[in-house]
Amino acid sequence: MQGVTIVDHPLVQHKLTIMRDKETSTAGFRRLLREIATLLCYEVTRGLELTTIDIETPMGPMKAPTLVGKKLVFASVLRAGNGLLEGMLDLVPAARVAHVGLYRDPNTLEAIEYYFKAPDDLGDRLTVVVDPMLATANSAIAAVERLKERGAKDIRFVCLLAAPEGIERFRGAHPDVTIFTAAVDSHLNEHGYIVPGLGDAGDRMYGTK
Ligand code: PRP
Ligand code: URA
Repeated sequence: MQGVTIVDHPLVQHKLTIMRDKETSTAGFRRLLREIATLLCYEVTRGLELTTIDIETPMGPMKAPTLVGKKLVFASVLRAGNGLLEGMLDLVPAARVAHVGLYRDPNTLEAIEYYFKAPDDLGDRLTVVVDPMLATANSAIAAVERLKERGAKDIRFVCLLAAPEGIERFRGAHPDVTIFTAAVDSHLNEHGYIVPGLGDAGDRMYGTK
């Protein structure tokens, strides 16, 4: 699939299986999402540019690699994006954070925006949009549109699970934005839920159902 990286690391796949299990507790689900996020972050940042600087180790001088170039902003699609955000920030604590508040209208499945806050300098940053679920892609498409309106240019999208239908729609709307996901599932059901999926990510994270 062009523009899609499936992170098939055994630890990611093992943890995802536990998250999918309907018997997994709210606390367990949140912890696993944060853990998987660090592994997804590792993949999405793989191509970051390095330079070398002069440092002194206890044994002597060396030229050592250090990150250079664009700084990161993580854009969390509320609510469930915050579960991935925490793990990403564990690895890149200096990153800036944008919040895009969206919920799916249960009847139309359209994404309704209720909050938006982002750093001013999005155009100078690599923007990593995080949301565990890419189902119809209405939310992801809307989030990326808003971030582009505010100047974001270099954007990647990280999720935990994607539906083939969502990937096709998202890539059609934003062909410049590559997708990183732990798995691509079978299909969407008649209510727009990913099958076999893991249910409603926000509800499972926060115990709201
Ligand atoms: C979930 C999920 C995505 C969206 C995906 O959010 O976190 O944002 O659904 O579905 P889509 O691809 O069909 O748009 P939800 O609307 O349930 O809000 P929540 O995170 O506040 O629970
Ligand atoms: N949102 C979710 O949380 N889960 C799905 O399966 C689809 C959309």
